[in-house]
Amino acid sequence: MKKQRILIVGSEKGLGLGLAEAWLRKGWEVFTTHLPNTDVSSLLALAERYPGSLSTGEIDVTDASHIAPLVALLSVRQFDIIFMVAGIYGPLHQSVLQASDAEFQQIMMTNAFGPARLARHLIPMLKPGGTLVFMSSHRGSIASNSEPGIGLELYRASKAALNMLARCIFMDISQKGHTVLSIHPGWVTTAMGTLDGAVEAEIDVKTSVNGMISVIEQHRNDRNHLFIDYANNIWPW
Ligand SMILES: NC(=O)c1ccc[n+]([C@@H]2O[C@H](COP(=O)([O-])OP(=O)(O)OC[C@H]3O[C@@H](n4cnc5c(N)ncnc54)[C@H](OP(=O)(O)O)[C@@H]3O)[C@@H](O)[C@H]2O)c1
Repeated sequence: MKKQRILIVGSEKGLGLGLAEAWLRKGWEVFTTHLPNTDVSSLLALAERYPGSLSTGEIDVTDASHIAPLVALLSVRQFDIIFMVAGIYGPLHQSVLQASDAEFQQIMMTNAFGPARLARHLIPMLKPGGTLVFMSSHRGSIASNSEPGIGLELYRASKAALNMLARCIFMDISQKGHTVLSIHPGWVTTAMGTLDGAVEAEIDVKTSVNGMISVIEQHRNDRNHLFIDYANNIWPW
């Protein structure tokens, strides 16, 4: 039987790395991407453990000139799942009043526009009925932003924008039987989730990854666009 195949964008550390390892363990063929000029020792170690099953390419999702080379590298492949994981927290202050134009541009480019633009270029590589997954956050839910004093304006805005761009993609590809999932991974112990070790998160990478994989398996043929978390809870937009 032919192996199932997944593309994970942003996976040399954190949740992306955990997802790559978990899908390799499930016997899938995994294609990962990382930023140019970053430390890829984690991916090299994974490739050694799963010979012939892991391939990698480079992309900075904010750089349009990286898209064509990646598409060319992937050209003959068709994917069952494409998962856009890459993202940033942005400046610690998270405040519209304090943010520079460059800070706002960077978080919106990295978390919303970049992944959505790349996804649109990759859609032709999605198998018929294949699933597109965006790493969202419950912080992107407008309806759940009801606690005063939490702030997080920049990050919230970027993930809300990502959710809308994901919906626009779904509306364009739904006729072909595709499913789009905007998934919240939980509050996870990664560099981002702990603000580089400054705070404690709620769950470890393994719990988040196993939860997300089970949710994706359960919903990948729904032919819908869901905002859902790693524990299978639906979130209000
Ligand atoms: N951890 C949480 O609690 C949590 C909660 C909700 C949502 N999320 C989301 O989950 C995703 C993964 O986060 P994480 O917790 O695993 O954080 P992480 O460990 O900081 O990983 C972020 C990944 O994104 C990559 N990346 C950053 N900017 C990029 C760009 N311009 N182009 C391509 N790749 C880029 C990073 O590459 P480098 O390492 O080379 O910079 C890294 O591989 C993010 O979208 C985040 O918003 C996380």
